[in-house]
Amino acid sequence: MKDAQPRTIYLKDYQAPDYWIDTTHLTFDLYEDHALVTAVLQMRLNDDIGCGGALPALVLHGEELDLVSLHRDGEELESDQFQLAKGTLTLPVEQPRFQLQIVTRIRPQENTSLEGLYKSNGMFCTQCEAEGFRKITYYLDRPDVMSVFTTKVIASQARYPVLLANGNAIDQGELENDRHYVTWEDPFKKPSYLFALVAGDLECVEDHFTTMSGRDVTLRIFTESHNIHKCDHAMVSLKKSMKWDEEVYGREYDLDIFMIVAVDHFNMGAMENKGLNIFNSSCVLASPETATDATYQRIEAIVAHEYFHNWSGNRVTCRDWFQLSLKEGFTVFRDAEFSADMNSRGVKRIQDASLLRTAQFAEDAGPMAHPIRPESFIEISNFYTLTVYEKGCEVVRMIHTLLGADQFRKGTDLYFERHDGEAATCEDFVKAMEDASGVDLTQFRNWYSQAGTPVITVTDRYEADTGDYHLTIAQSCPATPGQEHKQPFHIPVGLALLDEQGELLPLNAEGIHAEGDKEKVLSIKQTEETFVFKGCKSKPLPSLLRNFSAPVRVRYDYSKDDLVFLMKHDTDSFNRWDACQRLGVMAIEQLVEQSEQAVDPQLVDAFGAVIADPELDFAVKAEMLCLPSEASLAEQAEVIKPLAIVAARKKVKQAIAEAHSEALLALYNELSYERDYRPEATDIAERTLKNVCLGYLAAEDDAECLQRLAEQYNDASNMTDRRAALGCVVDARHRDERLVERVLTDFYDRYKDDANVMDDWFAVQSSSAELGTVEKVKALMQHDSFDPTSPNKLRALIGGFTRNMTHFHTAGGAGYEFLADRVIELDKQNPQVASRVMMPLTRWKKFEPAASGLMKKALQRIKAVHDLSTDVYEVVNKSL
Ligand code: ARG
Ligand code: ZN
Repeated sequence: MKDAQPRTIYLKDYQAPDYWIDTTHLTFDLYEDHALVTAVLQMRLNDDIGCGGALPALVLHGEELDLVSLHRDGEELESDQFQLAKGTLTLPVEQPRFQLQIVTRIRPQENTSLEGLYKSNGMFCTQCEAEGFRKITYYLDRPDVMSVFTTKVIASQARYPVLLANGNAIDQGELENDRHYVTWEDPFKKPSYLFALVAGDLECVEDHFTTMSGRDVTLRIFTESHNIHKCDHAMVSLKKSMKWDEEVYGREYDLDIFMIVAVDHFNMGAMENKGLNIFNSSCVLASPETATDATYQRIEAIVAHEYFHNWSGNRVTCRDWFQLSLKEGFTVFRDAEFSADMNSRGVKRIQDASLLRTAQFAEDAGPMAHPIRPESFIEISNFYTLTVYEKGCEVVRMIHTLLGADQFRKGTDLYFERHDGEAATCEDFVKAMEDASGVDLTQFRNWYSQAGTPVITVTDRYEADTGDYHLTIAQSCPATPGQEHKQPFHIPVGLALLDEQGELLPLNAEGIHAEGDKEKVLSIKQTEETFVFKGCKSKPLPSLLRNFSAPVRVRYDYSKDDLVFLMKHDTDSFNRWDACQRLGVMAIEQLVEQSEQAVDPQLVDAFGAVIADPELDFAVKAEMLCLPSEASLAEQAEVIKPLAIVAARKKVKQAIAEAHSEALLALYNELSYERDYRPEATDIAERTLKNVCLGYLAAEDDAECLQRLAEQYNDASNMTDRRAALGCVVDARHRDERLVERVLTDFYDRYKDDANVMDDWFAVQSSSAELGTVEKVKALMQHDSFDPTSPNKLRALIGGFTRNMTHFHTAGGAGYEFLADRVIELDKQNPQVASRVMMPLTRWKKFEPAASGLMKKALQRIKAVHDLSTDVYEVVNKSL
């Protein structure tokens, strides 16, 4: 039960807890229709709390629990000796130290929210972050209460041969009636959100890692037996992560065993529970036949991310949930750098910047905008956002840029040393960086407190007689909810100047210590700053925000010629790609405004030059040849006109395909050769580029092209190539409906037993401009392979549909009504997923009037529902 009027919680109200829990002994008795949980807690008064004589009452969190019994220091408390209210259990305290024994009955089998203890495919598993532990027992379920946990799991031996929890197994044995138990002890203090338990019929792959101090660590990845052959890539990724964290951060693993368990029903990607990471199976399992290159890379990144949390999150955790970015922003930065080291650094940067600019900028411009350290929330689950994670990563990256790698490392060493075993704040992190490096980050802290995407506007002037080049950088930041006016940010702006030959000029200007350097990061702090560069023989062309040095928008009046020049000559991969994107946006926006126009010939030529460029590496070439996505075009539009965007983008793609069909085909053929599948950067680059070419070739209107698609689909020896062909076939439906049906059926027959691949089968249809009508999506919801309790399936089908600009935004609003119905229905089952899938509706103000009004109406219908979860309540109320 939730409050009728959910309460807002504020960072400024933070208070330390009245009591600590030194040790936590848990016993789980798992049965088929319920579980009994016995918690024995050693409680201690927090001496820092002034209580003036009487000891404060103890208020424990608890939700959806049946209290069976409650003992304090061995004495049973009767029901008139404590109070049970919505979400809490309050009891009087008589001694500064005491023991509680709490027995609760819970029903994991009926837990559809997937928070707390629940069942997925017959196995028991947990998800406690952020506030799920309170669905297991009464507890101080807040991250600043850290305790040493022991966990005894008892269950049927036949059904659940594998019993896991955090730490090291210290005891096990058999009991009567086919029951057995295992006891686990985690020697490290941790908050309840890092607790985990798994019980199931699982197999595991095992490997070992020797740490830098020579300790042997056992590594195990558990999954259902039919997936056991798909764990190798995750294992390789884990070992690489362990090594990288030792080399780059000096961080060693601290337990004797590290386990990963793959589960099918999971609200997010994965969870860093101490010593026992639990993963969405889609982020662990891979084989060449079932996983694309993108999935392989995603697995590597997420395995690393969760592993890295062992230090940035577990050893040093968060004081409260407003500090979430302390662990998430930092850990995303760590995994991004790891992926850059393992693969193509340039491409990783392009992909991350692209995601940030498309999705995080949209969040910053929407009704839920918040700083990376939010000041208030109603439901913390709504703040696991691109802002907290990805913008949080960019903020850490800016510190890295401003300090340099060596000082940054000194800063992280100091941070880990100072706060090991503690629950820390974002302020602690910044302070450690400052203290270690001597760099003043006072103004930099605005990145933690202010929401919104800053805009830097760059203007310039060249004086031919003196050779002076004046470059002025002005910054501003649009208002966001609750923050009308912003203080200026401290922004690192990567800069180079190109001369007429495309060579980088030495940067000679007063006030910047770059004498003679050709690249420099300017440290911008004022609302407006001007730099005068000396000795320029002609007007230089600026290359701005190199390597995407800050999460900001850049306004500079580049002509199309300038952009084509940068595409060719800039030495910064990110900016080369960005020039391409800018040119693409210009060309597509022209058509959105005036659809009968011809496609900009300059763009078509420039893409031709990219295709033909023999020097460009394949990975960057592939990125450059991708036109701005529909989502990115929508984000950059003043007013979003969905159907016009789809049509304009398609027209531009077709024009490029027609003009360069020979070159594209030649490149496609050059890259189409048989080889064994390896998920290595060079191979991935070739496959990606090949399939980008295929995408263009498929845009052409001839029979030969359909033939080519069918061939690649049939002959593919890996999922990357097969999936790429499938996407193109679906897009070509208007030309050959029967081919589409045949291929979709074939795909289904091949992979119907693989839940993760079937997700994609649903997504490819629901997101298709050709196929994904409201009716089709409704029909797919009734399909035998659709599991309405699986977040992955819901995200694939419904999420895919909301990304489908053509049909989600269909005239009349049937798409919005469909989504509102799903949100209302899902809210009763899984509030976290309900609140996620409704996000696209919250952007209603940015759409053209016809769409906007109908989107608003759908939101109002959701708002009118009684007993909304706090998750959906918060999103719907903030967006209307
Ligand atoms: N800490 C996890 C990670 O990023 C995410 C868990 C979020 N869970 C949730 N229910 N919001 O690695
Ligand atoms: Zn994380």
